Amino acid sequence: MRFYSRKLIKPGDLNARNTLFGGALLHWIDEEAGIYAMTKLDSKEVVTKYISEIDFVSSAKQGEVIEIGLGFNAIGRTSISFSCEVRNIFTKQSIIKIENIVFVNVDENGKPKAHGKNLNNIALIKY
Ligand SMILES: CC(C)(COP(=O)(O)OP(=O)(O)OC[C@H]1O[C@@H](n2cnc3c(N)ncnc32)[C@H](O)[C@@H]1OP(=O)(O)O)[C@@H](O)C(=O)NCCC(=O)NCCS
Repeated sequence: MRFYSRKLIKPGDLNARNTLFGGALLHWIDEEAGIYAMTKLDSKEVVTKYISEIDFVSSAKQGEVIEIGLGFNAIGRTSISFSCEVRNIFTKQSIIKIENIVFVNVDENGKPKAHGKNLNNIALIKY
């Protein structure tokens, strides 16, 4: 797993308990993983298809900095999938873990389209 974006937790990212709002975290993860899928598939036409069970391991507070990690799981004909972990950048305390996030490459009508990538021609650590 490699860690990519860092985020500073600000007041607008909090829930009613003043800890990190899970919806904000999922927004960041979906965006980060979507960009990762685009770079791996050399396509901007990717959509989130599936997110597996989500484990909110621990909370995070305003002023803390988190980093979003992604690991390659699998590549199919139209899809690509990753695992994800978000952790505190300094303490490395895990905040969330997701086993499987699947993105599908689509055509102009939003239908699945073969992306042409496989284990032999995908640049897993290109970006
Ligand atoms: C993405 C979408 C086009 C896929 O359509 P579909 O008819 O389910 O497509 P298919 O059944 O042909 O599956 C396409 C790929 O997704 C994979 N897939 C489908 N359902 C899956 C699931 N539940 N879990 C994991 N992978 C899944 C298939 O294995 C296939 O991968 P492969 O071609 O690499 O083998 C369609 O579901 C859709 O438009 N969903 C909305 C997407 C969206 O708007 N996302 C933004 C958030 S709302």
